[in-house]
Amino acid sequence: MGRLWKWIILVPIAVFAVWAAVHSYELEVGKESFARLGCASCHLSGGGPNLARILPQYDEKTVVDFIRDPEAVYKKLGRKPLNPGFGVMHQVKATDFQIDAMAKYLKTW
Ligand code: HEC
Repeated sequence: MGRLWKWIILVPIAVFAVWAAVHSYELEVGKESFARLGCASCHLSGGGPNLARILPQYDEKTVVDFIRDPEAVYKKLGRKPLNPGFGVMHQVKATDFQIDAMAKYLKTW
């Protein structure tokens, strides 16, 4: 009995610690990619919409889809651009891991 309780408590703590480490690593990669891939040069200078203001209306998958292939989202939604007053966004070269990480990072804004 005593032994079993120990594991019932320790295993979830270990799982959570690993999850938290992976999650914070991913947010770090997202933040770094956003700066390094040039996203910030448009989105923090008025050359692109203020993502903090518009992203709450989209779920993470839509954000990932848009970064991966803006043209496909324009086709799917039948709207181009999505944000009146802005130009269109072109595809940026990034890996799937970077794109997922950036979407997670952007959802924290
Ligand atoms: C050359 C300028 C430019 C660069 C570089 C750029 N963007 Fe954009 N981005 C835009 C513009 C302009 C829009 C608005 C497009 C629209 O409304 O259709 C946009 C829209 C977006 C949106 C979606 C907004 C919505 O309403 O759904 C996301 C998310 C986004 N950008 C993320 C990124 C990320 C991440 C990067 C870097 C990998 C990046 N952008 C690089 C100009 C840029």
